[in-house]
Amino acid sequence: MRLETQKFIPFAAPDIGDAEIAAVVECLRSGWLTTGLKTKEFERLFAEFVGVKHALAVNSCTAALHLALEAYGVGPGDKVLTTPFTFTATAETVRYLGADPVFADIDPHTMNIDPVSAERVLQSDVNFKALLPVHYAGLPCDMNALGGLAEKYDLKVIEDAAHALPCSYKGRAAGSLGDVGAFSFYATKTLCTGEGGMVTTDDDSIAERIRTMRLHGISRDVFDRYQSEKPSWYYEVVAPGFKYNMPDTAAAMGIEQLSRAKLLRERRQSIADYYNSQFSGLPIDLPPAAATGDEHAWHLYVIRLQGINPRRDEFIQALADRGVGASVHFIPLHVQPYWRERYQLKPDDFPVAYDVYRRCVSLPIYTKMSDADVERVADSVKLVLASFEQN
Ligand SMILES: Cc1ncc(COP(=O)(O)O)c(C=O)c1O
Repeated sequence: MRLETQKFIPFAAPDIGDAEIAAVVECLRSGWLTTGLKTKEFERLFAEFVGVKHALAVNSCTAALHLALEAYGVGPGDKVLTTPFTFTATAETVRYLGADPVFADIDPHTMNIDPVSAERVLQSDVNFKALLPVHYAGLPCDMNALGGLAEKYDLKVIEDAAHALPCSYKGRAAGSLGDVGAFSFYATKTLCTGEGGMVTTDDDSIAERIRTMRLHGISRDVFDRYQSEKPSWYYEVVAPGFKYNMPDTAAAMGIEQLSRAKLLRERRQSIADYYNSQFSGLPIDLPPAAATGDEHAWHLYVIRLQGINPRRDEFIQALADRGVGASVHFIPLHVQPYWRERYQLKPDDFPVAYDVYRRCVSLPIYTKMSDADVERVADSVKLVLASFEQN
């Protein structure tokens, strides 16, 4: 039941301006729709932005993760350590290759993978090949500690940077902190191309493998094939690859979004600052700030209700009744039927992730929100909490 006649504030909305629209129209008029010059340009700019040698555009973060794991030879019998507090794509890509994701619990403050819990899991098995940390909500993981574990246990680090643009840790951008980074440009992400993703790495041979595997295992990209000196009909298939390339229409949008990425982050930061100022003293845990000098992307603003029996679902419904969209990130993987049954997991196997799940609410935080929208969200949170206290 809606209590208000005001417009509904959705949980998320993309920020598509005239520049993005013009860039896509120009691309459509050019007649070149698939991977081409725009994608190459987007890759060059993205690599510069993140501070890596190679950026490889693909059509999702899921594709980026799959390609990264494949390039490092992850396969049956191998294990990859990750967090249960993520979207299923993080772990499912490990299964694509016949390997097994293994979870470690999260830190109760940052909600990122807890390095102490991670080390305990690593000690239990010798088949670990990689660490797959997620910079949850856009807050960088403790990469010093994770890098130490990678060195000690001889593991590759693949950053799931789906939420992490722009995000930095000790002066370096997410996506340049491990061996490979994987970004998402899905419609609700901080850089949006509708669907899209990017792999970042300094590793030449991994970049080469990913370049080949993202397009059918063909040794040359489509555009190179049509523009190079060799006959355009000639190509060589060197592996059974995938169809993961990014179209130029998406890259055209991406270029425009990237040019505004820092500004858009500042707006989200100011929304987070406002929420923090309004919510102090309420019976909720506020999201952690980035450490001094680090940068939080603020893809998500996640509060946690306090109390042993949090009325989280009721809280989200009450916000919706006031015209405010909210969501939950995430239903942890270890309680999802597939993961639970395949690995015989129980909610209490990862008590921190399960506790946070029961209490967490993601509030709207996006640049298309007006100041009035932001104020309405904050007021609604306060009003709903006050009504909870009365009954
Ligand atoms: C942490 C995380 N990793 C990976 C993905 C997958 O991204 P994509 O939809 O671009 O494949 C998502 C999507 O929401 C995500 O939240």
